[in-house]
Amino acid sequence: MNTRVFPDIDALSRGALDELLRIMADAVRTRGRFAIALSGGRTPEKMYRLWAERERQNAQTPWDKVHLFWGDERYVAKDDPLSNYRMTREALIAQVPIPAANVHRVPGPEDFATPEAAAEAYEADLRKFFGTAPPAFDLQLLGLGVEGHTASLFPGSPAFEEKSRWVMAVEAPAKPPRRLTFTPIVLNQGRNTFFLVAGEDKREIMHALRSEPAGGPSRYPAGRIRPADGVVWYLDKAAIG
Ligand code: 6PG
Repeated sequence: MNTRVFPDIDALSRGALDELLRIMADAVRTRGRFAIALSGGRTPEKMYRLWAERERQNAQTPWDKVHLFWGDERYVAKDDPLSNYRMTREALIAQVPIPAANVHRVPGPEDFATPEAAAEAYEADLRKFFGTAPPAFDLQLLGLGVEGHTASLFPGSPAFEEKSRWVMAVEAPAKPPRRLTFTPIVLNQGRNTFFLVAGEDKREIMHALRSEPAGGPSRYPAGRIRPADGVVWYLDKAAIG
């Protein structure tokens, strides 16, 4: 397991942001744009706020070349307190001059009557952006749930059997249950993948993941995301004990 361990979530957020900005500069230099798949939940919020703060102090992000996507979203309105988009808007998007067209929000109930229709629309947005080849994000951020889920890929998820769709509507054993998620078809294409994991409540699942045989099958969704370019685990001390 390729891990980077930090004393706390502040240091973890700074370390991950430094790498994000390096990867962004490289992507813009080599591909003319930076496509990032953001994660939701609590852990990445501090890094999003730090990114906005850094931009206030020293603007270095070419926002016209940055495209924000979400690896998963709860099927709730964009102003709902449970919306990953809302969290990101308050922490980052509302603070920086990113063109609205570069913010690829996952559609919600205000856009489509069903999560399935919203998933089809988001996939169409991805296909328009990436064309025919599976989307290889320059950077994808992922979290980890206590039972080993990542994005909204929960244990036993049908998304692991999916052969063609890039985005799926799923029913999760979590609040709220109706969600949209990238499938492993997308997540296993990432050029750079960071798992951001912090807090004592993640210690048990981190121990279980680290105890699995390297390269062997994993019992956990997070352990089954294995892009060829590898993943880096950004951990705080509390998460590994
Ligand atoms: C979501 C997330 C999810 C998250 C984990 C960890 O929409 O809930 O994308 O996969 O990353 O649940 O969440 P915390 O960072 O809040 O522990």
